[in-house]
Amino acid sequence: MIYLDTAASYPILPEVKKSLLDAFENCYANSASSHLLGESALTKVNKVRELLADEIGAFPSEIVFTSGATESNNVAFKSLLLNDESLSHKKHIVISSIEHKCIFAICDYFQKLGYEISLVEPDVNGVITVENVKAAIREDTALVSIMHVNNELGTINPIAEIGEHCFSKGIIFHSDAAQSFCKTEIDVDDMNIDVMSFSAHKVGGPKGIGAVYIRDLRKRSLQPVIHGAGQEDGLRGGTVAAPLIIGFGKAIELFPQVYNYFISEDPKSYFFKKLQENEIEHSINGYGSTLPHILSLSLPNTNVTLLVRDNESSLCLAQGSACSSKEIEASHVLTSLGLLREQAEHTFRISFTHEVTKQDIDFLVTAIKKAAY
Ligand SMILES: Cc1ncc(COP(=O)(O)O)c(C=O)c1O
Repeated sequence: MIYLDTAASYPILPEVKKSLLDAFENCYANSASSHLLGESALTKVNKVRELLADEIGAFPSEIVFTSGATESNNVAFKSLLLNDESLSHKKHIVISSIEHKCIFAICDYFQKLGYEISLVEPDVNGVITVENVKAAIREDTALVSIMHVNNELGTINPIAEIGEHCFSKGIIFHSDAAQSFCKTEIDVDDMNIDVMSFSAHKVGGPKGIGAVYIRDLRKRSLQPVIHGAGQEDGLRGGTVAAPLIIGFGKAIELFPQVYNYFISEDPKSYFFKKLQENEIEHSINGYGSTLPHILSLSLPNTNVTLLVRDNESSLCLAQGSACSSKEIEASHVLTSLGLLREQAEHTFRISFTHEVTKQDIDFLVTAIKKAAY
């Protein structure tokens, strides 16, 4: 099976699997317990907290472990907006029209609480520009949330510029870094980021674990999102998932090297070359600065149903939409870019593993060629 859906979930790295097995076997104590095994679990959890903080130029005290980026996005919005009295008169949120679906769901909830939401559309390259964000900001904007890397296009948004503008206006800036973490440079100070979301399973770690960075967490008055026994600075109750966090730590340690391999191998360029050599009509959605493992490809002269059906047991492809590839409706990212429903139906999101070979890419190109009208 050729797996081409790493933006939805990256295969677990073998070393991560080993560290998980070891942690499940030996690190079973509750990290809140005051005995030796509990303290050992706490030390290990806090080492990963330090590692993550180091990776993004933050303090360990500013990191809260969650179940993944969806929960981190929830914590980001709810912990900050539902408790900070200084913001209670500000009821406007700016997001982009190409955010992950969970951001829209969170905004629907805030709309019910009386907030107004402005959507910033991408430019023709699939990028959210600082100019467009500036135009959407109002006197009563409480929060701007723009993802770092788009999960369908692989485009990198200029979050440092957006962060600088938000900082100058005193607006909280959140960025969903589920797709960019450990793949491209992040420095929360240089980028003026106040809140940022991460997920382990996008970097070869286990599912069910992630984190949120909150600047000056301990100095803020924050609304707990899961009321519990005080874990994670009281923001997110529940026994801390030490084994999963240890696995996440291993992934953070190793994934940047894995990703450097992508950069050196550049599978995307080889794929484009092969498409051209085989005279396959195609267009790419999202230009300019993009990550080397993700691409959105429209194939107007390809019988997509045939391509998917004939290769069901050999290719794992995401069609039209990102994390919910079973959806039949056109993805909101593609329609934001101006694609019509039919064009979106002829579009695939391809995201390689670091183990993809030239033979795999040749197989994919041949499969596409075979499915031509
Ligand atoms: C940009 C983005 N945000 C959030 C998520 C959700 O992440 P998780 O599965 O960790 O909740 C994903 C992936 O599904 C994503 O690509």
